Amino acid sequence: MRKILLLFLCVLFYGGAQAADVSLLLQNFGGFKAGDSLRVTDYLGNPSSYSSSVLEKDPKNSFNLAVHVKTSGEELFVEIPLPDGMTSKTATEGRDRISFRFYRSAADGASRSCKFFVYFGTTKVYSDASSVSQGTAGEWQTRTYSITKATNTKTVMRLGMSASRGDYYIDDIKVIGIDYMYDYTDPTQTARFYADQVGKHLGVAVNPGLGNDRMGQTVYRNFNMVVCENAMKFDATEPSRNSFSYSGGDIVVAFAQSHKMFVRGHALCWHSQVPSWVSSNGASATTDNGWTKQQLLDILKNHIFNVAGHYRGKVIQWDVVNECLDDNQPDMNSYKLRSGSVWNYVIGEEFIDSAFVWAHQADPDAELYLNDYNVGPWQGNPSWEVGKTHALYNLAKRLKDDGIPIDGVGLQSHTSVGNVSLPDIKRTFDEFQNIGLKCIITELDMNQDGASETAQADKYAGMVNIINTHDNAPSIVVWGTDDAHSWIEDSETKKPLLFNPDFSAKKAYLSVVQTFKDYSILMENKPIYMESDEDDSDIVTVYNLMGQKLNCSTRGDVQNLPLGLYIVNGKKVLIR
Ligand code: G3I
Repeated sequence: MRKILLLFLCVLFYGGAQAADVSLLLQNFGGFKAGDSLRVTDYLGNPSSYSSSVLEKDPKNSFNLAVHVKTSGEELFVEIPLPDGMTSKTATEGRDRISFRFYRSAADGASRSCKFFVYFGTTKVYSDASSVSQGTAGEWQTRTYSITKATNTKTVMRLGMSASRGDYYIDDIKVIGIDYMYDYTDPTQTARFYADQVGKHLGVAVNPGLGNDRMGQTVYRNFNMVVCENAMKFDATEPSRNSFSYSGGDIVVAFAQSHKMFVRGHALCWHSQVPSWVSSNGASATTDNGWTKQQLLDILKNHIFNVAGHYRGKVIQWDVVNECLDDNQPDMNSYKLRSGSVWNYVIGEEFIDSAFVWAHQADPDAELYLNDYNVGPWQGNPSWEVGKTHALYNLAKRLKDDGIPIDGVGLQSHTSVGNVSLPDIKRTFDEFQNIGLKCIITELDMNQDGASETAQADKYAGMVNIINTHDNAPSIVVWGTDDAHSWIEDSETKKPLLFNPDFSAKKAYLSVVQTFKDYSILMENKPIYMESDEDDSDIVTVYNLMGQKLNCSTRGDVQNLPLGLYIVNGKKVLIR
């Protein structure tokens, strides 16, 4: 039987261009015909007499064969022999993930939760910590797990679950190492390498405790900026009045400094995550603890001077005021502040002006940002509040015009693939550039929500391209390292970030690498002004040599023109 089973297996070797890596594909039921079966055993290999696993047509694709497993009893496993000569030890060397396609039969009934297990020989290399949903019946899903190494010399692996019964199909079992398309230990393959070259920050939200494990390495190898997801907020840094705690933020700063990374600060003044001594619910303006306007101004000033002062020289940007705008704006020509904010309720609008002035006094070198969500598309997004981007623009412009030391705005960008309108977002960056304000992406996560990984990758690439092509856009930050570490409920289904739960690179990440890489090459070809170009306005008029006016309005657009000779604001310009 084993001889026949060997037809079962084929070993596919991916020789990645940069990272020699072997991925082991255990299936390809070539040579097998429907009806042949595999053993079903306990983890020790003792056969189960109440279970079966038969090779059948894929319930969704009659041209494909898959193993149909029916079990009755806990922790029963379908046994997959390893290719000839391969043992558990050699199969798991250099490979740290397993993925397989899983299909729960409709006959298996309503949703079912259980723990999945993977053994090589009798060594458990993966088990869910607690029961997880087996997913929707009647649909194929890919499950990917990080696995530990096995050192035994057995020649089988076993896949199974804790459920008392099961009726499911398995296909495309892969034991994989570093993505054959991407080796994060090779710095010339990382987004950080190219973001550094184009002079942009690529940041990620983190929490204290990063080490040299795969998460820590994924952070410092692939990003050049970090921001504390929570550790620098009001409740974390001033848990009781005038008693400051910087331990969490200091740990993150130390990690960043040890890996030569930038740090951005988040957030000095926000209605949420304020400690109860300030307000038992900062978002409900009525719970203001009876502070007078002057008392609350003194509290805010003291907080900002202490926290921004403590991190002076360690933090290059601050979200000074976060989410101060109301979700429903009256029109696109004004701005309405959030009423549910203890700061606005007690102090009024001047809390914003004061916060920026105090932050600048506390750290004159830090860039100071006004940060908000559901802003980004210039015309507002039909499924969001219309006009909130304009409100952000109008408030930021008012602050700047009043001489308040604001450097720019942060677009949080908690969004989904379908909601990202790149041309509309580009317009927002143009508008802020035109009034001399920076514009950055501060908390990007992009739920797939049914869109393909490729579509998500294209939108991430588009966001990076907007950053690359705007001189007023120094930073783009994602709000979490991977799809298992996100504030978003059910993030492993929504898949909003750049890395898989096992820290393998998603297409979204690889597209970010490519976009920075392409732009770094373009930078080497940036336009040469063949005549002295005193005119430094960003608005340009461009003609080609046939005298046709081109659809270019800013210098950033000029950089994207095909190679050739152009007339830009009356000057000869060569793009090479
Ligand atoms: O620290 C406590 C812990 O002691 C307690 O045991 C635990 C369980 O209650 O809660 C912990 O606090 C949690 C905190 O994160 C730290 O982990 C809060 O409950 C939880 O609500 C808080 O969530 C954070 C959220 O802001 C709060 O509004 C998310 O992690 C964080 O990603 C999210 O980030 C915000 C940005 O700051 C602003 N823009 C929106 C973005 C998403 O909401």
